[in-house]
Amino acid sequence: MVKAVVIGAAGGIGQPLSLLLKQSTLISELALYDVVNAPGVAADISHINTPSTVQGYLPADGGLEKALKGADIVVVPAGVPRKPGMTRDDLFNINASIVRDTAIGIATHAPKAFVLIISNPVNSTVPIVAEVFKKKGVYDPKRLFGVTTLDVVRASTFVSEANGASEKSLEYSIPIVGGHSGETIVPLISASQPSVSFDQSKIEALVKRIQFGGDEVVKAKDGAGSATLSMAFAGARFAISVLEAAAGKARTEYSYVDVKALGAGEWSSVVGDLTFFSVPVKLGKDGVESVGAGIKANEYEQGLLKVAVDQLNGNISKGVAFVADTA
Ligand code: NAI
Repeated sequence: MVKAVVIGAAGGIGQPLSLLLKQSTLISELALYDVVNAPGVAADISHINTPSTVQGYLPADGGLEKALKGADIVVVPAGVPRKPGMTRDDLFNINASIVRDTAIGIATHAPKAFVLIISNPVNSTVPIVAEVFKKKGVYDPKRLFGVTTLDVVRASTFVSEANGASEKSLEYSIPIVGGHSGETIVPLISASQPSVSFDQSKIEALVKRIQFGGDEVVKAKDGAGSATLSMAFAGARFAISVLEAAAGKARTEYSYVDVKALGAGEWSSVVGDLTFFSVPVKLGKDGVESVGAGIKANEYEQGLLKVAVDQLNGNISKGVAFVADTA
């Protein structure tokens, strides 16, 4: 019996994500929480004849507590998305408090759940959740994940396409490490599986496209938001992997996790003193089992990693300071 909760379930990501989770037979109970329209989304999705039960919750009458009680996994796409010209960091002022309050709810009502953070800026919101959990005495770094899967999904699409093999995109795996915004997203195309060979200018163009792929969507939506459908796909893929691993199947995914607490392994020399960094993680019954190894960055990519580490330092401190000042 698995209870999955979506916080922000009525939003652009939340609705298709809830739909995709309803398709999974691993989930027996789906709780959809939002500050608006969650009962409507839940009523709609509940008519789908997969086995899980679906219930929608609003803040009134202890809705957050009811949604979270007994949760095994909580996925959080609550918050505002970008408009053209905005960086993910521009969202901090609004989303930081939404994520902090959500984290307080999870720490209180579902302290053992796997927690998957989608709300941006992920580089700062995940440290916010960690700090809240530490204050509440319930922090388990094996169970807290920043969702960077969309960068991995985009990279498979863009690199396979550039290699003239779009029809094989599902077979393309490109390590993406670092964080989840602009230059903190570091694609290691030299370690792509299957291996690919492009000239340096093409590689640099691909790296840019993967780093700023989200901007293509923001621009095309022209004020109506950022990636929602591809994000729902990526978020559902990650959530299902976490649940499959908890059910005993070995799974590896990339995620922005507390490498300091978990042990960064081969990534130690890259991450230095950073707490959070996206790395390959081997998932098991209790979440992260270990940080994956065996991926090498070439010289050009090492330069990209340095830039990412510098920026991440500031992003992480900003999240930590926010909780110290306000929670
Ligand atoms: P949206 O505005 O369509 O939906 C957000 C939902 O959150 C709304 O339904 C809103 O009512 C709800 N919400 C606001 N405050 C809440 C609270 N305190 N508790 C519960 N729900 C609350 O936005 P969209 O497009 O779904 O994006 C959501 C977040 O995901 C944004 O921060 C966006 O930047 C981020 N995102 C992350 C990506 C990633 O790769 N990690 C990719 C794309 C977007």
